[in-house]
Amino acid sequence: MSTEKLRIAIQKSGRLNEDSLKILKDAGISIDNGKEQLKASARNFPLEVMYLRNGDIPQYLRDGVVDAAIIGENVLLEKGKDIIQGEKLGFSKCRVSLAVPKSMKYKGIEDLDGKKIATSYPNTVNEFLEKKGITAELHIINGSVEIAPNIGLADGICDIVSSGSTLFKNNLKEVEVMLKSEAVLAISPEISAERKAVLEKLQFRFKSVLNART
Ligand code: PRP
Ligand code: MG
Repeated sequence: MSTEKLRIAIQKSGRLNEDSLKILKDAGISIDNGKEQLKASARNFPLEVMYLRNGDIPQYLRDGVVDAAIIGENVLLEKGKDIIQGEKLGFSKCRVSLAVPKSMKYKGIEDLDGKKIATSYPNTVNEFLEKKGITAELHIINGSVEIAPNIGLADGICDIVSSGSTLFKNNLKEVEVMLKSEAVLAISPEISAERKAVLEKLQFRFKSVLNART
């Protein structure tokens, strides 16, 4: 009887891609590469890797088109609260923060009341502002968010901060950390029992890799 292959999604390109491939490699899994093919098989483990856009992954998990994924907690919080969150994987650590121009005299979150905020994380921002009793107008953009205040599109932004260099280069300062995030293993609620058994083997290997890293 042939084992059903576990279908795992990883980020096609961007911050998580390299470290996601690295943890699979460190877990002893060799993948016949070909990111261009968007789908690759492991040679020595019942695994199929799909290279997808970060923001699309929660929907694939929800639909059960992929069984698991390596993804940022921040993306799950924004788009996949219904997705099962497995182990934290210890890489791609970042914050999701609010930032304003350096020149703004920022005293507290109430300074953003009635202001315009550019972001790729509308749900996360809305939830945060709601808790604080603040209303702001959101401009949803998918990338290069930090440019928005400089071109007069918004008063502040909410985006991922890692080294802080993008904020610095754009004359912005981080004023509120909304959440801290790292890469996690996400699991589809639709995963079959057979594939779940394969996933458990993978989780076991990941754990050994993470233990060896600390
Ligand atoms: C991400 C994020 C920030 C930046 C943060 O952008 O949107 O802009 O990285 O990292 P830093 O604090 O180390 O500078 P990315 O370059 O991935 O591109 P995008 O905004 O176009 O998605
Ligand atoms: Mg960016």
